[in-house]
Amino acid sequence: MTSKIKRVGVLTGGGDAPGLNPAIKGFVYRGSELGLSVIGLFDGWRGLLDPLADFMPLDRDAVSRWDRDGGTNLGSSRTNPFKVPAGTKSVDRSDDVIKNIARLNLDAVVVCGGEDTLGVAARLGERGVRVVGIPKTIDKDLAGTDYTLGFDTALRNVTEVIERSRTPAGSHRWVQVIEVMGRHAGHLAFWSGVAGQAHLILIPEHPFRYQKVFELLRDRLGEPELARDRFHRSRYSVIVVSEGAYSEDGETVTIDDRHDAFGHARLGGIGEVLAKKIMDETPYEARAVALGHPQRGGAPSPVDRIMGLLFGARAADAVASGDFGKMVSARGIAPACTLSLVDLSLVQGKLNALDVERYYDTTRYQVKDLGMNL
Ligand code: F6P
Repeated sequence: MTSKIKRVGVLTGGGDAPGLNPAIKGFVYRGSELGLSVIGLFDGWRGLLDPLADFMPLDRDAVSRWDRDGGTNLGSSRTNPFKVPAGTKSVDRSDDVIKNIARLNLDAVVVCGGEDTLGVAARLGERGVRVVGIPKTIDKDLAGTDYTLGFDTALRNVTEVIERSRTPAGSHRWVQVIEVMGRHAGHLAFWSGVAGQAHLILIPEHPFRYQKVFELLRDRLGEPELARDRFHRSRYSVIVVSEGAYSEDGETVTIDDRHDAFGHARLGGIGEVLAKKIMDETPYEARAVALGHPQRGGAPSPVDRIMGLLFGARAADAVASGDFGKMVSARGIAPACTLSLVDLSLVQGKLNALDVERYYDTTRYQVKDLGMNL
C-alpha cells in the first residue's frame, strides 16, 4: 500500500441510482482492511464548494446496512465546479474544491458518478487531485465499462410497470405508450421493452417514422370494428419509447428550455406527443405515461448490490495501490464479471449507445434475433 494514502473522501454525484450505497459499503469494508479511513462527503461536488461543508466519518458500523438502501445516503447534486451559476453568469470554482479537499486533509477522493461527475474528477485529476471513479447511471451510457450501477434495478422497475400496464390497456383496448428514461441512450427502454415484451420499442439510436408506427399498430390491432371483438386477446398494444427517441422529421422533446451546468436539457414529453398522434391519425385510443424518477427508486436489485460491493472494494484496492486517475470497469455482469481499471479520460465525450446493428430490428421496432413475433 502507498503509505501516504490514509484519509479518503467519497462522494456521489448526478442522478441518484440504486447501487451507490452498496458501493460505499464495499469501499469502506475493503478500505478498513487496507488501513484507509473514509470520510463521506455530502451532495456531490456541491459539498466541496463550501469551506464549512459538513462530512461524515464512515466506518464499518456506519455503513453495515447500506447495501440494502436505494438512492444515495450521501446526497447528490448535478453541480459542475467548473461552471457554478453566479447571477446571470457562471464561474469556475474548481480551485475552491481543491482547497477544500486539502482543508479536509483528504489524500484522495473516490467519486461515484456518470459522465458528468466523473468528467469533473478527470479534470481535477489532471490538476493533481488523486481520484478514483466508480461508474453509475441507470442510462448505462458510460464508455469504458459494461456495467453502471443502477441499470439493473431500473430495468426491474420499468419491466414491472410494463407488466402492470397490460391490464388497463387490455381492458380498454388502448395503445399504452410508456416513456422511459435513458437520455440519449436506449439501453433502459430497449431491454425493459424486451423483458416486458412490449410490442414496439422506440430508441434514440434509430429515429422512428410515425407512419411506420401506425402501420405496425394496424398490423397488430386490425380494423377498429374488430377491436370491439371482446374475445380477441390481442386488441391492445404497449409501446415503450425512450425519452430521447425522436421521429425522422422531428427532434428530441424536452420539458423546457433550461439546461443544467453540464449543458443537458431535461428530456421528456415524447410519450404524450406520440399518444396524441396515434389518437389523431389512427382509429385507436391511446394513453401515455412517463415513468419519471421512480424508475431510479427503491432498494437495489441483487445485481446492483453485488456490483456495488465489488466496485467499492476494487476502488479501495486502487486507492491503496496508488492507481489514480482511473475508473473501476466491469467486463460482463455479476456474478460472471471481471473488474479492471480504465483511464478516467476514456469516459468523457463518448456515448455508449445501444448497438442497433446487433440488437434492433429497424423494420419492426423490435429486438432482433429472438426468432419470434411479439
Ligand atoms: O441520467 C439519469 C437520468 O435519470 C436520465 O435518465 C434522465 O434523463 C435524467 O437523469 C433526469 O434528470 P434529473 O434527475 O435531473 O431530473
